[in-house]
Amino acid sequence: MSDAKLVYKDKEYPLPVVEGSEGEVAVDVSKLRAQSGLITLDPGYGNTGACQSSICFIDGDEGILRYRGYPIEQIATRARFTEVCYLLIYGKRPNAEELREFRVKLTRHTLIHEDMKKFYEGYPPGAHPMAIMAAMIASLSTFYPDTEESLDLNIIRMLAKVKTLAAFAYKKSVGQPFIYPRNDLSWTGNFLHMMFAVPSEEYVVNPVMEEALNLLLILHADHEQNCSTSTVRMVGSSDANLFASISGGICALWGPRHGGANQSVIEMLDAIQADGGNYRAFLDQVKDGNSKVRLMGFGHRVYKNFDPRAKLLKDAADRIFAQLGAVDPLLELAKRIEEEALRDEYFVKRKLYPNVDFYSGVIYRAMGIPTEMFTVMFVLGRLPGWIAHWMEQRNSDDNRIHRPRQIYTGENLREFEDLGTKHLSTKLGKGR
Ligand code: CMC
Repeated sequence: MSDAKLVYKDKEYPLPVVEGSEGEVAVDVSKLRAQSGLITLDPGYGNTGACQSSICFIDGDEGILRYRGYPIEQIATRARFTEVCYLLIYGKRPNAEELREFRVKLTRHTLIHEDMKKFYEGYPPGAHPMAIMAAMIASLSTFYPDTEESLDLNIIRMLAKVKTLAAFAYKKSVGQPFIYPRNDLSWTGNFLHMMFAVPSEEYVVNPVMEEALNLLLILHADHEQNCSTSTVRMVGSSDANLFASISGGICALWGPRHGGANQSVIEMLDAIQADGGNYRAFLDQVKDGNSKVRLMGFGHRVYKNFDPRAKLLKDAADRIFAQLGAVDPLLELAKRIEEEALRDEYFVKRKLYPNVDFYSGVIYRAMGIPTEMFTVMFVLGRLPGWIAHWMEQRNSDDNRIHRPRQIYTGENLREFEDLGTKHLSTKLGKGR
């Protein structure tokens, strides 16, 4: 492929062009500064490829999403979440025996160390479960060594224990005793059991809930270089251990512009409903340039046509509601808002469509999962993607520490004058 050229101050700099397997092209600027003194400036990295990756492919204009080459529409209806974990992390589909072994390992490592249960006691009752998750995942590194030999097992531990940690965070928030995992249940069934069982009753996993959860987790499993995955790669680039890197990803996911949007969508719908359901007035606020109010669950950096995950979830929502016998005015409200927004010039012009978070929350609600746990559900789904990216980077030939540059806009050199305050007492005076 021929080089691109940059002309600066009458000098020409050739820039190698890199082409991906789906025909995406990029100019390689990694040597540009050494050759010309120039760096590239791209706030928010909207036009920057941070790596080459073979895990996930998105074509935002066409609404295409593929994991390791397989279309999301097929994976969503034909796979179980654990198979998707395997596919993303190890780069190939497991055969029946490999999948069985993988599932056995994931089941055997679901318990957490008993000492970790004590950590939950320290949190105040209203603690957000995302804060607990980030801390608990980082804390796993205090129990399991960060060695080359333990890496495979640490990946299994992480995938197995994350659901226990999440369910315990929920149990803590409602003041109920922790429910231990059962080895006869699937990954998803075990999570539902640890969430909803109580010691005084036998809990039978509802297959509709299990199916719904399977779909939701698969749809969240990877999404190439999004904010949290880039964070995991960024933290991992310093050779930080797997648990620490994933903990960083959890913090990045929490924000309402990213995974936290699923919680914000329900809070927004609730507020509109409580205000008499006048969604048109709400959309007017969104469109008012000065209001800073956003239609949560809408818009995406990459998708400019539709988000295939949102489409699958919208279709699934009616089915899941019917199967669970659930009724929720917020589902109808969400549909009316989508309809209205999709024919409104403001949203059409900016190519704003519902994203994965627009319908996931109403489904989680129908399943009895509380709003504050929604982003934790996103963590459960995204974990295999994070691990896959962390591994890919670690094994890549250009695994350099992530260290962007900047254009400095601060003060020029100035004198730090001695104000004679060096020995000022820090003792507070009377009356202060
Ligand atoms: N409601 C109203 N206006 C919007 C919205 C929205 N949800 N999203 C973008 N815009 C407008 C924005 O005001 C801007 O308009 P203008 O050109 O007049 O200034 C234009 O669209 C472009 O927006 P942007 O902020 O430059 O786009 P971005 O690519 O930087 O941000 C986003 C992407 C997802 C952060 C943003 O669309 C947003 O805040 N959406 C709401 C939060 C949300 O649903 N997040 C979940 C994302 S999908 C799941 C995930 O990966 O986490």
